[in-house]
Amino acid sequence: MAPRRVGLGMPKPRRADPLGPEPAAPDRPDTPALVDRFARTATDLRLSLTDVCNLRCTYCMPEAGLTFLRRTQMLTTEEAVRLVRIGVERLGIRKVRLTGGEPLTRPDLEEIISGIAALTPRPEISVTTNAIGLDQRAARLAAAGLDRINVSLDSVVEETFERITRRPMLHRVLAGIDAAREAGLTPVKINAVLLPGLNEPEVADLLAWCLERDLQLRVIEQMPLDADGVWDREGMVTAARTRELIGRRFDLSPAPVARDGAPAELFDAVDRRGEVPRGRVGIIASVTEPFCADCRRTRLTAEGRVRTCLFSHEETDLMGLLRGGADDERIAERWRAAQWGKAAGHGIGAASFAPPERPMSAIGG
Ligand code: 5AD
Ligand code: SF4
Repeated sequence: MAPRRVGLGMPKPRRADPLGPEPAAPDRPDTPALVDRFARTATDLRLSLTDVCNLRCTYCMPEAGLTFLRRTQMLTTEEAVRLVRIGVERLGIRKVRLTGGEPLTRPDLEEIISGIAALTPRPEISVTTNAIGLDQRAARLAAAGLDRINVSLDSVVEETFERITRRPMLHRVLAGIDAAREAGLTPVKINAVLLPGLNEPEVADLLAWCLERDLQLRVIEQMPLDADGVWDREGMVTAARTRELIGRRFDLSPAPVARDGAPAELFDAVDRRGEVPRGRVGIIASVTEPFCADCRRTRLTAEGRVRTCLFSHEETDLMGLLRGGADDERIAERWRAAQWGKAAGHGIGAASFAPPERPMSAIGG
C-alpha cells in the first residue's frame, strides 16, 4: 500500500454550493429517519470533537508531520450541541459517542455533554478516550451527564505501551481509569488493538488485568486506518488468532446475549488458573467478519462534515449550512441525503479497496 500523504489528502466536501438545495433522490423513502439504500437506519452518532491527541498510537497517527485543524475550523460548543440536537430531534439518533482525536483535549467537553444530556429524548452519552487527564475530570463529566466511557489501552506493560503510543504515559491512563470507576462511568470498557510482535503475546494477561478490575475488554482487529499506511492484512492479528491466544489461559464460550447490532462478539471467559474472576470479553472482527450489513452509525467530523462510514471517500459539509444561517430542517435534510449514499460495506478485502484519505485520529473512532 502506498504511504499516505498525511494532511494533504483531506477529502473535499461533496458539495461546492453549501446553501444549495439537496439533489433529488426519488427512490429515498419519505421518512425523517437516517436511512440508506441497504435498508439500514442510523440511530447511533459518533461525533469527533477534535483531531488533536496527546498520544501517537502507531495504528492511528504518524510520528510527526500531521497538520491539525485550526480552532475556527472546528465545531464550537454550541454548533456541536446543535448538530446533536438536530440528530436527536429530527433524525432519530438515540446514542451519542464523543470521540476524537482525544476528546479530553477539548476544555468544553463537560459543556457539550450537559447540552446533549438536556435533549429530549435524552440520548445515551459515551466517550472514547485515552483517559489522560481523566483523573481530574471524571467526576465533572459524570455530573454533566456522561453515562459511560471506553478507554483505549493496548498494554499495561510500560515498555509495550510506550512502543505503541510513542509516549511514556501509562501511569496517567491508569489514574484516569481508576477515576472513571470511582465516578460511576461504568461499565468501563477497554479498547485494545493487537499488533503482531508488540502486545499480541500479552492479550491473555491484559484480559486477566481487566477482569480483576471489573473492566470489559474489547479486542479490535486493526483496520487500515494508520497514517503511515503500513497496515497489512497478512500481518494483522485476526479475531480467530485472538481467541486462540486468549484460549491458552481462559475457557471461552459465546455469551448468551443477543448481539443486536453491536460490533463486538461477546464471550464468557473463565480463567483455568482460577486467579481472576470470570467475566466477559468482546472481540471485534471488523476486517475478517465485517458487520457492515447491520451498521447503525452515522459520523460527524470535528469540522462538521457527515461521514457515513469510517472508510468513506466522501464527506458532506454541514458547517457551511450551520454558519450560513440555515434552519434545523435544512441541515437535517442534507444529513439525510448524505446517509442515503452510505456504501454497503467497507470492502477491505476487495481488490479495489483504497483506505480513507484521513488517519483515524481525524475521522473519529
Ligand atoms: N484499527 C482499529 N481500531 C483503531 N482505533 C484507532 N485506530 C484504529 C485502527 N487502525 C481505535 C482505538 C481507539 C478508537 C478511537 O479507535 O483502539 O479505541
Ligand atoms: Fe490518540 Fe486514540 Fe489515536 Fe491513540 S488511538 S493516537 S489515543 S486518537
